[in-house]
Amino acid sequence: MPETVFQGRSLLSMKDFSRAEIEWLIGFSRHLKDLKKRNVPHRYLEGKNIALLFEKTSTRTRAAFTVASIDLGAHPEFLGKQDIQLGNKETVRDTALVLGSMFDGIEFRGFKQEHVEQLAEHAGVPIWNGLTDREHPTQMIADFMTMQEEFGKLEGLTLCYCGQGRNNVQNSLMITSAILGVNYVNATPKELAPDPEVVAVARKFAEESGATITVTDDPVEAVKKADVVYTNVWAAMGEEGQFAERVRMMRPYQVNAELVSHIENPNYIVLHCLPAYHNAETEYGKEIEEKYGLAEMEITDDVFYSSHARQFEEAENRMHSIKAIMAATLGDLYIPSV
Ligand code: CP
Repeated sequence: MPETVFQGRSLLSMKDFSRAEIEWLIGFSRHLKDLKKRNVPHRYLEGKNIALLFEKTSTRTRAAFTVASIDLGAHPEFLGKQDIQLGNKETVRDTALVLGSMFDGIEFRGFKQEHVEQLAEHAGVPIWNGLTDREHPTQMIADFMTMQEEFGKLEGLTLCYCGQGRNNVQNSLMITSAILGVNYVNATPKELAPDPEVVAVARKFAEESGATITVTDDPVEAVKKADVVYTNVWAAMGEEGQFAERVRMMRPYQVNAELVSHIENPNYIVLHCLPAYHNAETEYGKEIEEKYGLAEMEITDDVFYSSHARQFEEAENRMHSIKAIMAATLGDLYIPSV
């Protein structure tokens, strides 16, 4: 079978794929979702073995890769931080050489982007970035798929990310928006403004797509033209020690009833990659409430459960889109061009 556009490729960063390829992956995700809903088999990875490497905890990414693998006919094997030698007794390169000789594809969630890149360099099989310090690319296919399902298009929409700018999700959202022609606004305190390198990459893509890329510390101005308001935890995994400072800086950026009242589009939607701190019903939520007197953080309960909220559709779409990414890069699908 001749080489196709996706076969054997890794997804490490949104920069790895062109606009046409990302659009194709979104369309294919929607097709696979339809097949799943109709109980039509789609076992493109029959007999393959998939390693799921997790240095950090996960609900959605782990569940999505597991179910997607099984639906595609593959066997997923979870290898958590406590289970394997990676980083402790064995280098990333050696781990890549060993796992690449046994598995057909590897998902990696870890602390460093350079580690997912090293895996891809040495494993000889597709590597899928399940979140690093720099990017969260599998999340992006689900997010933009959810937006397309809602609005029937992507180009020309405005996405406002109301959250700290130095964050893997922010980086990937900014770059993906720029590639796909979605106008992007990051509302963030000046101290947490995005990495200028990421902004430069996004602006370069935006020159081609026509998207606008804006960074502002004014949340009200930022949300006015939004079709989609997206938020995320104030402290990412590993940053919890900085919480007191983050609460102080991020409070004006909370997505609450007052802030969303400034959105002009009555049909706006709210996204969140989850988990969200929208009440004090979790142990972590309780601890934050006791320490800072704050029962809701990046998003309030009323907005989180409002008719505009689409975060649970977005979470479900993680599975369909991860399935598309795995099938396209590892399956024997014939996709000669997009
Ligand atoms: N959005 C996301 O990556 O969720 P998990 O951390 O639960 O995988």
